[in-house]
Formats: sequence, C-alpha cells, structure tokens
Amino acid sequence: MSVALEKLPSQLREQRLKEVDQVILRHRDRPGALLTILTEIQDLFGYLPEATFKPVAQALGIPVSQIWGVATFYTLFNTRPRGRHMIRLCENAPCHIQGTVAVLEAIQRELGIAPGEDTQDGEWGLELVSCLGICGVAPALMIDDQVYGNVRPEAIPAILDSHR
Ligand code: FES
Repeated sequence: MSVALEKLPSQLREQRLKEVDQVILRHRDRPGALLTILTEIQDLFGYLPEATFKPVAQALGIPVSQIWGVATFYTLFNTRPRGRHMIRLCENAPCHIQGTVAVLEAIQRELGIAPGEDTQDGEWGLELVSCLGICGVAPALMIDDQVYGNVRPEAIPAILDSHR
C-alpha cells in the first residue's frame, strides 16, 4: 500500500517534496499542466497528498479548491493511500448489462473487499468507475495500467495472479 506522506521518515518526506517541486517546474508552463503534474505526483506517492496541493496551486496561479475538484473528479486519482494494485471495474450500463455484477462478486470472493476498500495487506484496492473507454468489449476492468475486456468471472483468479 502507498504510505501517507506524513508517515514517511522526515528525510524521505523532504526528498519527495523536492521531487514534487521538480515535477512542478518541469510542467508548469505547458498546456494541460495540472493533469500532468497531478499524474506525476500520484506516481511518486501512489496517491495525491493534500500537502502537495498548495505548491501546485501557487505555481499554476489557481485556487487549491480547483485542484481538489480535479483530484476528486477523475477516478484515476486517489486522495488517500490505496492498495498497491488498484482494480477499477466499470459499472456503466454497457458493462453492467454484460456482467459487471458477476465479475465484482468474483473479485470480492478472491479478495474479500468491497468497492472503496483495500485489502488489509495493502496489496489490492477496488473501485467502481463509470467508463474505461472500451465499451465494445464489456464488461471491462483495469488493474494498474492494464485494461481487460470481455472479462468473465471465472477468469478473475488468473487475472489477479498475473499481478501478484
Ligand atoms: S461502459 Fe464499461 S468500458 Fe465503457
């Protein structure tokens, strides 16, 4: 599981915050800077620590509330530490019709977590999302950066194993 910024040893915390400054400097003057910066910050920490919002807001000349808005609008962003592997299961109508519920039940049988939860060992997090952009191969899910279509419940154990 990603570790909360405030729980990192102080030296590592300072180092990570310097890396955030570098991310900001690298992208601040580019179009679409906010999304790029937030994506890279999430790559650094595994989530978006609130403490990084103020320097981003100052660099881009926008209110912190705008960053909160973006961070909570996009389901790919986490505003709290989550499982090391994030499972995002599409619950939109095309996927729902093709069997999202059965896939969700298979995931829950394997991992024992509900949407919004993480396994106790911090390995897995589960979220329902509205669309992964591959509606033609519903039902769809995504684990970390890998997308799966035409997912059948019986395939879930093997899919999860491939990420262990
Ligand atoms: S509706 Fe599920 S991927 Fe688009």
